[in-house]
Amino acid sequence: MVMNKSRNVFKSLVLAAVMGLTGGLTGLAQAKVVGLEAELQKWSFAGVFGTYDVNQLQRGFQIFQQSCASCHSANLMSFRNLSEEGGPQFSEDQVKALAAEYTIYDPELEDGERQAVPADRWPAPFQTELDARAANSGALPPDFSVLAKARGISQKFPYWAFNYFTGYQEGGPDYIYNLLVNYGEPPADVELPDGQAWNNYLGRGLAMAPPLGDGFISYDGEGVPETLEQYAADVAAFMMWMAEPHLVSRKEMGFRVLTFLFLLAGMMYLVKRKIWANVKH
Ligand code: HEC
Repeated sequence: MVMNKSRNVFKSLVLAAVMGLTGGLTGLAQAKVVGLEAELQKWSFAGVFGTYDVNQLQRGFQIFQQSCASCHSANLMSFRNLSEEGGPQFSEDQVKALAAEYTIYDPELEDGERQAVPADRWPAPFQTELDARAANSGALPPDFSVLAKARGISQKFPYWAFNYFTGYQEGGPDYIYNLLVNYGEPPADVELPDGQAWNNYLGRGLAMAPPLGDGFISYDGEGVPETLEQYAADVAAFMMWMAEPHLVSRKEMGFRVLTFLFLLAGMMYLVKRKIWANVKH
C-alpha cells in the first residue's frame, strides 16, 4: 500500500515535471511569435476524405498566372500537369493553347527560342536569380513548386498537440491565406526600408507589395465573389495542389491500407481463437 502510494506520488511528480517543461517550452516559443494568430480556413482538401475543388484550382491558377507568375517561378510544374486527374483538369486542348502563349529560351536551339509545348516546365519570369533580385529590391521571390509545404502556421499549445489526432495538414495554405489578407499600415514606431510592405500577420515588413485586392481579377462565370479573401483562398489551394498533386490518391491509399489492416487484425484474432480453442491455458 505504502509502496503504491509513493509510486503514485512519483508518477505525478514526473507528470508535473513533463507538463511544466512542455508548458515552459511553449511559453518560450510563444514569446517569439509576433504578428497575428492565423485564422484557419475551411479547405475542401482537409481531413481524411478531402479532395481538391477543381473549380477552385482553376481560379487559383488564373490568379497565379495573372498576378504571382510575374515574379514567382514554378520550376517543378509542367503545363501538362494542369490537365492531369486531380488537378485543375483543364482540357488537353486548353493546355496546348496555353503553352503556345509562352516562349522557351534555350541557347542550344537555332534561334535560341521556341514555342512552349505541354511537356515543358512552367517558364520562370526571370532568367537568373540576379535579375529576379534586381527587380524586387534585392529580395528573391521564392519558387512556388513546394512553397505551400515549406510554410506553416504557429499555434498555441493545445492545438499543435491536437493536430496529431485531427490530421491537420493545412498549415501551408493557411499561412499563405493569412499572409495575403493581412497587409496594412506599419505601427507608428516602425520605419520600413524602401521596397518593403508591412504585413500584420507576419508582424514585420516583407519585400512583396500586396499582390491582390478586391476586384483585382475578374472571374468568368457568376457567383464567385471577387474579393481579396476569395482570391487568397483560391491561390492558396492552387499552391497546395502544386506542392502536393497526389494528395487525394495518397489519402485514398492510406484509407485502403488502414481498412485492410483492420480487417486483417480481426481475422488474425479469430484464427488465434480457433488455434488455441482446445488448448488448456
Ligand atoms: C512584384 C513581384 C511579386 C508578385 C506579383 C508576387 N510576389 Fe510573392 N514575393 C515576392 C518577393 C520579392 C518575395 C520575397 C519577400 C521577402 O523575402 O521579403 C515574395 C514572397 C512570397 C511568399 C513567401 C513569404 C514568406 O513566407 O517568406 C509567398 C507565400 C508569396 N510571395 C505569395 C505570392 C502570391 C500568392 C502571389 C500572387 C497572388 C505573389 N506572391 C505575387 C514578389 C512578388
